[in-house]
Amino acid sequence: MDPARNPYRPGAGLRPPELAGRDLEIRELEVLLEQAESGRPGPALVLAGLRGVGKTVLLNEFATRGRTRGWAVTQLEARREAEWTAAAFRTLLASGVAAALREVTGSWGFGDRMRRAAGTVKSFTLGIGNVASVQVDVEALRGVGDSGNLALDLTELARSVAAAASERGVGVLITIDEMQDLPLSLLAALCGAAHMTGQRDLPFYVMGAGLPNLPGRLAEAQSYAERLFSYRVIGPLAHDAAFDAVTLPGLQEMAAWDVDAAEMIIEASHGYPYFIQQFAKEAWNHASTATIQREDAQSGIAMGLSVLDEGLFRSRWARATPSERRYLIAMARDGEGPSQAGEVAARLGKKTNSLGPVRANLIAKGLVYAPEYGQIAFTVPGFADFIAREEPTEISDPINGLRS
Ligand SMILES: Nc1ncnc2c1ncn2[C@@H]1O[C@H](COP(=O)(O)OP(=O)(O)OP(=O)(O)O)[C@@H](O)[C@H]1O
Ligand SMILES: [Mg+2]
Repeated sequence: MDPARNPYRPGAGLRPPELAGRDLEIRELEVLLEQAESGRPGPALVLAGLRGVGKTVLLNEFATRGRTRGWAVTQLEARREAEWTAAAFRTLLASGVAAALREVTGSWGFGDRMRRAAGTVKSFTLGIGNVASVQVDVEALRGVGDSGNLALDLTELARSVAAAASERGVGVLITIDEMQDLPLSLLAALCGAAHMTGQRDLPFYVMGAGLPNLPGRLAEAQSYAERLFSYRVIGPLAHDAAFDAVTLPGLQEMAAWDVDAAEMIIEASHGYPYFIQQFAKEAWNHASTATIQREDAQSGIAMGLSVLDEGLFRSRWARATPSERRYLIAMARDGEGPSQAGEVAARLGKKTNSLGPVRANLIAKGLVYAPEYGQIAFTVPGFADFIAREEPTEISDPINGLRS
């Protein structure tokens, strides 16, 4: 069928034509926004899950829902790079909040509280040099949010902006994608601001998305984090939602799916949204009639897998050093895992402790995570199968293969 009309959207953060299976989380979000509007904010949602399950898309949906209700919404994405300092974070956050305030000025008006909020945003960036990017047409509010202590200043900022929002019966939402990559000090500062505004019933939410280690990172940053946030594990789609994700976008373009063909895509994808998009896209391109058939699905899955191998999987494989690869190969013997770190070490003929640095580097690169103490698992679904395709000899002959 015409590739130009292909509705499927494999990629990072690309909104799918059908956001399937996330009704529960979206309803929870709407309830939280409504509660905050009436002065009873609840614990903010934090989404955790493997690569490609649809965290970014869902977090973006949260932001859109907030904006639709007239909230001031700022969307940030954390980075792992060393230059992601407190100062850089401050500038980015301030520019984001300033932009969000400009967006809502029309509906919020520019009363005293708004003036104070804008002044705090400006003072928040004082003393860190780069004020140029933050365009706020008011005087900085000296002495508020400019102490240089990020936790204190962020709390002041949150309080000022949320006070302006509450006067209008709305709120402030900051979304942070890849939140597990924020340094602990920044996570702690965000927790502090959320804690204070929560105690004062101010409508201020920080909602994040990240890898499965995110709840652990937050707990490490701030011991009361688990009471500030409500964690949601975002996983593969259940069968009916996966069926919708495969078939509805086609129907919107007047293309039908043979039921068996759709089932093949669901099975091959294990319900993982990214894989669904990739396989369905290739199946569509292969189809020559207005109904996508079994052979289209079969060829779509094969094509899709090679695209995933080249992109999603190999790009990560390439990031691993030879010793890290040996570790991943040893893990892959457990399939999707999780693996016991002790067993992986034994397979490599090493002591668990001596592999600590290798494991830490793999975690830092975002390739694996520790679901529980002493365990280790892949962050990308299907990675073990990829390794089996890539390194068949090493997997089947671990001792000789792994030591070579
Ligand atoms: N609920 C859904 N229904 C159908 N497709 C979806 C759904 N959620 C996400 N997708 C699709 O899955 C792919 C991955 O989505 P997204 O980038 O949001 O995942 P992610 O969890 O943020 O991944 P990563 O951890 O790599 O950032 C995209 O192609 C998107 O269109
Ligand atoms: Mg993402």
